[in-house]
Amino acid sequence: MSSPGSEDQRKKVTTYTYRSKKKRGEIITMLTAYDYPTAVAVDLAGIDSILVGDSLGMVVLGYENTLPVTMEDMIHHCKAVARGAKYALLVGDMPFMSYQTTVDVAVRNAGRFLQEAGMDAVKLEGGRERKNAIEAIVGAGIPVMGHLGLTPQSVHQLGGYRAQGKSALAAQHLYEDAVILQEAGCFSIVFETIPARLAKFISEKLEIPTIGIGAGAGCDGQVLVTHDLLGLFDRFTPRFVKKYAELHKEMARAFTEYRKDVEEGRFPTQDHSIEMPDEDWDAFLESCK
Ligand code: KIV
Repeated sequence: MSSPGSEDQRKKVTTYTYRSKKKRGEIITMLTAYDYPTAVAVDLAGIDSILVGDSLGMVVLGYENTLPVTMEDMIHHCKAVARGAKYALLVGDMPFMSYQTTVDVAVRNAGRFLQEAGMDAVKLEGGRERKNAIEAIVGAGIPVMGHLGLTPQSVHQLGGYRAQGKSALAAQHLYEDAVILQEAGCFSIVFETIPARLAKFISEKLEIPTIGIGAGAGCDGQVLVTHDLLGLFDRFTPRFVKKYAELHKEMARAFTEYRKDVEEGRFPTQDHSIEMPDEDWDAFLESCK
């Protein structure tokens, strides 16, 4: 197992690191985080990049989908992550309607992720229809990560959370979109829930790194939603997720044990209590007479 290196060896991951890793054929790692403790742990594990995904709407805020997430929600969570992570490249996910109306709105909102929230880059969903917005954001000096395939903000247009790019025509469209995004200036593209061989084919054609989620092993990097990986999200687990823990069950077990300990007098004990000197206690009792 490789280690992330000692504190003084480790360097901040940048978009340049992304490019270099692809050139060297080294896999890029990414996980989502939405708060300070998770950001610290992900960073400590030596993960290259953290996505503050709008998936937080579902896995943290309990919405049905990502559509209700606002810019203020994103900025709030990005700030917490930025306080926790020192080395990972930090990517803030632009929420629904923060970049789809006008190019000016898109640039201003993208700018907030860097200026207010401490992010290094932004991510936004969509293909050719986002070309102008991406060009303008990149033109303002803000690195953009694209997102193709299953784009959750278009869940109603896609007719549900279903795999994309499965027909020859859809695969061709997706390939064209990836090239357009690269030409528009994206430094990387997320491929979500598309056929593994299509993701591998496009990844090999592109100069910029691709990051897969449910897109097989042929991408230049991998991302997972941390709450899925940890078994922290109780509603469902996508088929492509590998669970590394069952923290939701572990939380429920710990909370139940705590409740029973309190109800049955096992907590707190003297070990968890604060004492005061006897003479002060006696003086206090005396003063109460
Ligand atoms: O919001 C998110 O977590 C994402 C990942 C699924 C890539 O966009």
